Amino acid sequence: MTLSERVTVVQHPLVETSLVALRDIHTGTDAFRRHARLLTLILAFHVLQELPTREVVVATPLEETSGRVVDRNVIFVPVLRAGLAMLDAMSDFVPGSKVGFVGLERDEETAIAHSYYQKLPAQLAGAETIILDPMLATGGSAATTADLLRGHQANHIRLACIVAAPEGIELVQKRHPDVHIYTAVIDQGLNERKFIVPGLGDFGDRYFGTT
Ligand code: PRP
Ligand code: URA
Repeated sequence: MTLSERVTVVQHPLVETSLVALRDIHTGTDAFRRHARLLTLILAFHVLQELPTREVVVATPLEETSGRVVDRNVIFVPVLRAGLAMLDAMSDFVPGSKVGFVGLERDEETAIAHSYYQKLPAQLAGAETIILDPMLATGGSAATTADLLRGHQANHIRLACIVAAPEGIELVQKRHPDVHIYTAVIDQGLNERKFIVPGLGDFGDRYFGTT
């Protein structure tokens, strides 16, 4: 597939190491959670890299100096459930951030996501709105979430995921060409059940211990 400049594959030895742990069928819930967090912390540097900043004056114990701080409202939107796995690590970097929730669940037969919950902050226009969803498979969940955010006037949308399938990237790029996608890896594709291969299985089940 041709990657546009709106797709960033975050490459780092620690990302690769955590990814192997997440993929490994023998990794238990505790280690799965720890690696999901470590990997998300590194993703966060890239996802948040282009945030605008403004100058501020700060008093050190010795004298006043100036520095720069983030100057944009940031709204994280975890797609329930699995997106919750990325929320703490991402929001640690942006203490004033707000959080919106979108509940989507894929039908086990059709793999089409249906919406069961949503709660979004009032003002999305002008904010950096970051969708958190570790698995970008068919892309249905991510594209539906971006539709919903756009319907609420969001105009700066990014998508942070951990494993992406080419099919999912293509769908999001087709429906939302301005959405920048960040992922730790692009896998081979989808199997007949629309699971990512080689993938890591069902992220939500492994993270929440519901397998
Ligand atoms: C998973 C995953 C994504 C979605 C990706 O959620 O967390 O939200 O599938 O698939 P798609 O790109 O084909 O839409 P799932 O529906 O299994 O729900 P869960 O997070 O509650 O486990
Ligand atoms: N959701 C997952 O958790 N894993 C996949 O491979 C596809 C969708």
